[in-house]
Amino acid sequence: MQDVTPKPGPIERGGVARSFDEHAHTYDKLVGANSGYHEHLRLTARRMGLPNQGAGLRLLDVGCGTGASTAALLDAAPEAEITAVDASAEMLAQARRKTWPPTVRFVHGNAENLAMSGVVGPFDGILAAYLVRNLVHQDAALRQFHRLLNPGAPLGVHEYSVRDSIRSRIVWTMVCWGVIIPMAGLRASSTDLYRYLWRSALQFDGVAEFTKRLVGAGFEDIRVQTVPGWQQHIVHTFLGRRPAEPTPPDPVLAAADVDPEATTPAEGIALTATPAEGVDLTKSPG
Ligand SMILES: C[S@@+](CC[C@H](N)C(=O)[O-])C[C@H]1O[C@@H](n2cnc3c(N)ncnc32)[C@H](O)[C@@H]1O
Repeated sequence: MQDVTPKPGPIERGGVARSFDEHAHTYDKLVGANSGYHEHLRLTARRMGLPNQGAGLRLLDVGCGTGASTAALLDAAPEAEITAVDASAEMLAQARRKTWPPTVRFVHGNAENLAMSGVVGPFDGILAAYLVRNLVHQDAALRQFHRLLNPGAPLGVHEYSVRDSIRSRIVWTMVCWGVIIPMAGLRASSTDLYRYLWRSALQFDGVAEFTKRLVGAGFEDIRVQTVPGWQQHIVHTFLGRRPAEPTPPDPVLAAADVDPEATTPAEGIALTATPAEGVDLTKSPG
């Protein structure tokens, strides 16, 4: 069968954030016309299962854009401290214009090297909404998110994924060329970003492939759910968790490296002593 996947264009060759800069002033109007856009982001943020309204949690919204996903995270966890990062200065400027509590801060930075902009973990949850598809080194970025999470903490990836289903690819192409791209032609200065949106979603992993990618980056407890509306089986919530650390062994026994059955305090051995001090803890005194 002939491969009809569109070929990469100029935006793919490193120009994604620059293109978002150019389109930042019309971005909110266009996504506002997309029914379900904000509700679906809120759904993904809720699916992350952040406890206690986020009290005491540090969260990261990576690729926050004009703040739509940040608002969704805030809705799910109003008491959390949220760091929102984006590589487009203009998208961030739009986000900063909105009203936010003092617990939300915006940082200009590259999602592929967060430490370079001073964004360091650990975080109690990371949301990446409509970001991963745009990254050049997706596996490395996912591994970085994994490292930045506390053990047991969730990653929520909210993303278009249509590759596994012919029906999804057809609906996606019809919506893009019938609605989104013509609307961008009327409201934005050009349609390049929205033609890229169409292409990049067709090129991105299917659900099975992206699930494998998450496992490869070290995530466990992977769950995938779609959203309601025309975006059903087109937009997905991918959830993964950094594995919880195994229950640490008793630090005293671990330090002493003793068999608790063979040597017990009842036999008069000081379990606070360590082999480094030259005491053989496997033998009773005398
Ligand atoms: C489609 S927008 C999504 C914005 C927001 N998360 C939302 O749900 O509305 C994608 C955003 O990712 C940002 N982005 C793309 N590549 C990036 C990178 N390498 N580092 C940080 N942000 C990036 C773009 O600048 C853009 O603002």
